[in-house]
Amino acid sequence: MDIFDQCREFDFIRAYGVDGVPAYFRPVQPADRPGEVEIDGRSVVMAGSNDYLGLAQDPRLTEAVVRAVRRLGSGCSGSRPLSGTRDLHEQLEHACAAFLGREAAVIAPSGFQTNLMLAGLLGRGDVVLGDRQNHASLVDAVRLSGARYHRYRRGGVDQMEQLLAEAGPNAGKVIVTDGLFSMEGDLCDLPGIVALARRHRARVVVDCAHDLGVLGASGQGVPEHFGLEDQVDLVTATFSKSLGSIGGVLAGPAQVIDFVKYTARASVFTAAMAPPAAAAALAALEIVQAEPARRAHALDVAERMHNGLRALGFDTGHSVSPIIPVTVGDRETCLLLWQRLLDGGVYANPIVAPGRPAGEEIIRASFTPAHTDAQLDRALEAFATAGRAAGVIPRTPPASWTPVRIARPTAGPDTGPEPGPRPSAGIAPQRQAPVATVPIR
Ligand SMILES: Cc1ncc(COP(=O)(O)O)c(C=O)c1O
Repeated sequence: MDIFDQCREFDFIRAYGVDGVPAYFRPVQPADRPGEVEIDGRSVVMAGSNDYLGLAQDPRLTEAVVRAVRRLGSGCSGSRPLSGTRDLHEQLEHACAAFLGREAAVIAPSGFQTNLMLAGLLGRGDVVLGDRQNHASLVDAVRLSGARYHRYRRGGVDQMEQLLAEAGPNAGKVIVTDGLFSMEGDLCDLPGIVALARRHRARVVVDCAHDLGVLGASGQGVPEHFGLEDQVDLVTATFSKSLGSIGGVLAGPAQVIDFVKYTARASVFTAAMAPPAAAAALAALEIVQAEPARRAHALDVAERMHNGLRALGFDTGHSVSPIIPVTVGDRETCLLLWQRLLDGGVYANPIVAPGRPAGEEIIRASFTPAHTDAQLDRALEAFATAGRAAGVIPRTPPASWTPVRIARPTAGPDTGPEPGPRPSAGIAPQRQAPVATVPIR
């Protein structure tokens, strides 16, 4: 058979389109007003980015990019081990290691590639446990390494005890997880993961792609949120979300980072990160540390929008974060709701298979500190109109609804030195404010 046959048969408009227009790969341009983007020449509220802190268009990042491109050029034309390393790369690695409280860090040109570097630590015979919804890049890293990969359901890591117990004495044991899940917006069960890892001397790797800069008192992400930084062996993160740039970082013990730098194929056989991207990430990291109020604001905005949508009758699932998964449940309705939202002046993300299992389609929305109150209100109005038109919410709002429990930082560590009782699957730690049912006035 010819591998091109499948391409001729693939009808992407029927698969991923509404009214004859594809819903994906549409050009989305920055607009004059922060919080908005231009699509088909029209300015709409951007509710579909991962720019959780509203830094992507920050003039300080732009300035840093311009300075870097003037001094170092647009690219490095070489790999890091050979001619590609610049002072800026090393500054960014030191800054990331310091921010994450780790001995050392290595950066890569994307978050995906950062995770692929983990393959350099794994080999055939090693046993890796991972959440079923772990990001594709973590799954691919394990596949590339040849290690055995076992997937568990959220909150069900302790059911994997036997697998670790049975792994031979020579098998490396690792539990790898997203910190904050990119589609559901809920947290991994880090206390449970850490407890299991300790019992079996397994290593713990947390991908903080979506929580870096957003969760935890100082923005270190999910390990800090749970007060379990010391129990996590390696942290990976990307610069393409809250840091408004592109690239990623792997941070941990210096010996391990050096080993990965020198041996991982995804580190050695690729060109160095472009200087403008490194400069933007560094500038954003400085802002994250200098402006903790931005993080608090992001969580306030998230709370307001979750609750605004819930008050209209939408289901935003188990999310405890700025990721708002609006449940739809079938592909056609999901694409229809997305189109109606766009007609109403809001761009959000329709997530259908393969991004979600069939029957669990969502509109993924997120809002940022860059949005004004007026933009947020406009977005809620558009969701109300589109949701009713698509039959996703009732014409009359519900009499009561349950407010979201945002994963806000609190003063002390969550579990102390020994991992304590675990939150139930997908729910934020128990230190959150008690949930009440809010009557609609
Ligand atoms: C959990 C997670 N890890 C890694 C990545 C890859 O990061 P990047 O898109 O910056 O390559 C993503 C991106 O969507 C992600 O959600």
